[in-house]
Amino acid sequence: MASIEEISNAVSVCKKCDLHLFRKNAVCGAGPEKARYMIIGEAPGYLEDEKGLPFIGRSGKLLDSVFTVLGVNRATLFITNAVRCRPGMNKTPSTKEIKTCSNYLKEEIETISPSVIIPMGNVALRALGYVFGKKFPKISEVSGKVIKLGDFLIHPQFHPAAILRNPKKKVYFLEGLRQAFSPASYSKEEIEPKYVEI
Ligand code: URA
Ligand code: SF4
Repeated sequence: MASIEEISNAVSVCKKCDLHLFRKNAVCGAGPEKARYMIIGEAPGYLEDEKGLPFIGRSGKLLDSVFTVLGVNRATLFITNAVRCRPGMNKTPSTKEIKTCSNYLKEEIETISPSVIIPMGNVALRALGYVFGKKFPKISEVSGKVIKLGDFLIHPQFHPAAILRNPKKKVYFLEGLRQAFSPASYSKEEIEPKYVEI
């Protein structure tokens, strides 16, 4: 099994899809090797590409504000993306790009073995689908729900950029993450009806 350092080294020099043509820096997943929680975003934005770090721009600031409210220490989480190079013109990554880059996500999940995976937005959900060989429903159908897949609890959420575009959804986003970060406080009976069969 590859270490996170080995995966990150491979990502840094990866040219497996055309997105490498546009990047300044590939953005590797960040966080401890044995994190209990993994957050998956879509793709690096301008600042992330500049600095090579995930979620440090506007979406990252929104996440940080939610972490503060929930008392979550960001340093304990593993934060990664569906694709690790910034798409030119901020485009949505193509199916081929998501599929190609999902190999790194698969390796990160194998190495970290998180209990809870939080894919944010449709692109993250699709990447996770390639990792598990499943087709998940659209994020609008499963955000805020809990999907049990083997040993993993998957808590899909809208992407923070969607929340920034529609601030009315902020409370919904906050409550979805509150549930994701406190699965132990939910009894089996309470969780079961929220599982989505896929
Ligand atoms: N949006 C993402 O999906 N990922 C980042 O790292 C930053 C913004
Ligand atoms: Fe490699 Fe992923 Fe970057 Fe494509 S987006 S070049 S697969 S690291």
